[in-house]
Amino acid sequence: MQTNEKLTFPKMGCGTWAWGNRLLWGYDESMDQELQNVFNLCVANGVTLFDTGDSYGTGKLNGRSEMLLGEFSQAYAGANQDNICIATKLAAYPWRWSRKAMISACAGSAQRLGKNVDLVQMHWSTANYFPWQEWGLLDGLADLYEQGKVKGVGLSNYGPKRLKKVHKKLSDRGVPLTTLQVQYSLLSTYPVTELGLKEVCDELGIKLIAYSPLALGILTGKYSEKGSFPKGIRSILFKQILPGIRPLLLCLEAVAKSRNKTLSQVAINWCICKGTIPIPGAKNQAQAEQNIGALGWELDSGEVAELDKAAGNTDKKMVQNIFQTQ
Ligand SMILES: NC(=O)c1ccc[n+]([C@@H]2O[C@H](COP(=O)([O-])OP(=O)(O)OC[C@H]3O[C@@H](n4cnc5c(N)ncnc54)[C@H](OP(=O)(O)O)[C@@H]3O)[C@@H](O)[C@H]2O)c1
Repeated sequence: MQTNEKLTFPKMGCGTWAWGNRLLWGYDESMDQELQNVFNLCVANGVTLFDTGDSYGTGKLNGRSEMLLGEFSQAYAGANQDNICIATKLAAYPWRWSRKAMISACAGSAQRLGKNVDLVQMHWSTANYFPWQEWGLLDGLADLYEQGKVKGVGLSNYGPKRLKKVHKKLSDRGVPLTTLQVQYSLLSTYPVTELGLKEVCDELGIKLIAYSPLALGILTGKYSEKGSFPKGIRSILFKQILPGIRPLLLCLEAVAKSRNKTLSQVAINWCICKGTIPIPGAKNQAQAEQNIGALGWELDSGEVAELDKAAGNTDKKMVQNIFQTQ
């Protein structure tokens, strides 16, 4: 466990993008009991950080993931209850221009959660298209911290240059920047190897959260070129990527076998060994149970180096988030 004054961070968290998302992830309401079980299992095992967003859910289900997290955390009574940290991301929608817009967006999230947001994050930077839009929004996040409505402020999809500017802006107001989340996995090493974000985060005292650590499920090894593809958009993406990543999957498989672990556990553990906090998404109890098995042990430096080499040699990578800035 890593702690700052007000928040406790476990070695691994849980992502909830799929919770409420019919189109991409095939969510339907009959999954809710199973998702409560996922939540309970995670918290009981010390996985107390839950990542969500006010845009999570599709159509009328927008905000569904926050609503479920609210229900689940209120229903939960047991170990680690006091360490639960709900981290939501507020979208930099084109119609959100002012600090007030962010304050009211956070109030909306708090209402869906039935309690204050613990960690509020800017979902993405507007630097690539409306560079001036985000400054007011960031002021809103700092206001929320000063008003005691959140315990921490974080960012998402920022590169080092923009991160340093935001860090300075917030620290000028005495507001600490607690976390940054970026897409990071064996198939998406760019934020760390090319942007050098880990060093910058360490220098600034920011915790780096690795989102999509299983590369949307492809690193679990359950999808193959021979035909077991997920439904929807992921199948198009996976068909393109799978043929180019065979050596990486073989390497993952070999390490997993020698460790008596699963591919998912090795892929998640690799993120932990890199000093990040991975937040794999789990859609059912079996997945959550398996992902929790990534805790309590560590790959050795030789295994990490082997995986690094295999990742560096892959012809294909996961598509980078278009909002990732420099
Ligand atoms: N900041 C951002 O812009 C941003 C963007 C994306 C994600 N995120 C955050 O990161 C979280 C995690 O990323 P993600 O959900 O995109 O991708 P991920 O964690 O890489 O993959 C999650 C998917 O992999 C499959 N899976 C998970 N554990 C498994 C296991 N043990 N065995 C087999 N299959 C397993 C499940 O899908 P199937 O069973 O359908 O294969 C699951 O939905 C999100 O929930 C969200 O909170 C943030």
